[in-house]
Amino acid sequence: MAVIVVVGAQWGDEGKGKATDILGGKVDYVVKPNGGNNAGHTVVVGGEKYELKLLPAGVLSENATPVLGNGVVVNLQALFEEIDGLEARGANASRLKISANAHVVAPYHQVLDRVQERFLGKRAIGTTGRGIGPTYADKVSRVGIRMQDIFDESILRQKVESALAVKNQILVKMYNRKAIDPNEIVDYFLSYADRLEPMVIEAELELNKALAEGKSVLMEGGQATMLDVDHGTYPFVTSSNPTAGGACVGSGIGPTKITSSLGIIKAYTTRVGAGPFPTELFDKWGEFLQTTGGEVGVNTGRKRRCGWYDSVVARYASRVNGFTDLFVTKLDVLTGIGEIPICVAYDVDGKRFDEMPVNQSDFHHATPIYETMPAWDEDITGCTSFDELPAKARDYIHRLEELSDCRVSYIGVGPKRTQTIEIHDVMAS
Ligand code: GDP
Ligand code: IMO
Ligand code: MG
Repeated sequence: MAVIVVVGAQWGDEGKGKATDILGGKVDYVVKPNGGNNAGHTVVVGGEKYELKLLPAGVLSENATPVLGNGVVVNLQALFEEIDGLEARGANASRLKISANAHVVAPYHQVLDRVQERFLGKRAIGTTGRGIGPTYADKVSRVGIRMQDIFDESILRQKVESALAVKNQILVKMYNRKAIDPNEIVDYFLSYADRLEPMVIEAELELNKALAEGKSVLMEGGQATMLDVDHGTYPFVTSSNPTAGGACVGSGIGPTKITSSLGIIKAYTTRVGAGPFPTELFDKWGEFLQTTGGEVGVNTGRKRRCGWYDSVVARYASRVNGFTDLFVTKLDVLTGIGEIPICVAYDVDGKRFDEMPVNQSDFHHATPIYETMPAWDEDITGCTSFDELPAKARDYIHRLEELSDCRVSYIGVGPKRTQTIEIHDVMAS
């Protein structure tokens, strides 16, 4: 039995999809515990590139059963578009299971996400516009719609009517929008019921039974630590808990069952959307990372903001997730750049912070204190073992280990499945 939690250590897009794809072949289940179709996980298999938004990347692993856990918010239209798109390319999504307790994104959640962002103006979060925040808000306010409600028309109708009673007031009176007809929403959900029914299961029960039989589970978190609604750069965060603890809540797998907490971290840093980002670069190096790293958001097509590795963020992520291992991705992008700056601490108005400042204003004003390491010039995209890496690349990784309070167990040297160096096998830990 192994339960591996894959967690983004920065602001997302670290390469969680690739990590899942590599480990997915070794597990029985790949569970997505949080988020919805705001994610964008890229997997490159045999020259074919797949971009998963709602489904876990594990759907591409031939033997693993992909599961959307109770902590996920599911947009049904996006779900079936993604399944059909994958199947049209020869992938098999028929094993997909969904927790009966997962919440669904209603069309009015997407409307609210967009009008709220517009209303915030300069203070907008830069959300993906997928209705994620409003859906989680309804869950916590106890007016959400769950998967199981779709199979009971009378309950569904009551819930939609009561959710819209308040929302229509807000839409009409505050945002000057048209009221939404509850019948249209009920019909929208019911139109998916037949196709959905065979997929919906008691996920918590099935997963725990599987673990009792010695099977293995990988949990593929969406988003990342710094986007966590509790631990991230609030309010510039998503509305779920993409951290390791959130994976337990979002799947019904207890914390004592977790065998590895694997932090996925880029060899530099990126962020999409608004919010503080101390190591962000506005010079030619920012442009270099953006273009050489191909840093364009999968979900919204926005250019990602780019900066150097931030070990304050890495230490913080190691701490709040209890990382046992790190997977450093995109090391190849740093080849040949001369010197690599690493942020080791922050300066905030003359005061040094070695750890994440608790006060948001301090974090907004933090400027990085860098140390530099020499970069290597050799092409590393074909390296298959740690020893094959140039000495300077090995030194960089060793320094990241020291500064990030965690051992590095995997290194990405290119986007392909095969371009991965394994140092420690998390399945064996
Ligand atoms: P996720 O959201 O964490 O799954 O990450 P994304 O898929 O949004 O972004 C990561 C991008 O980096 C994708 O385009 C991957 O194909 C790519 N990628 C992952 N690992 C590596 C690597 O080691 N080297 C390079 N060059 N690209 C990588
Ligand atoms: P993956 O799983 C990067 C960001 C958005 C915005 C904030 C809130 O691919 O790493 P939301 O729509 O969730 O309410 O937006 O969170 N965001 C992501 N950034 N990668 C993601 O997912 C993200 N999911 C949400 O850009 O700043
Ligand atoms: Mg992504």
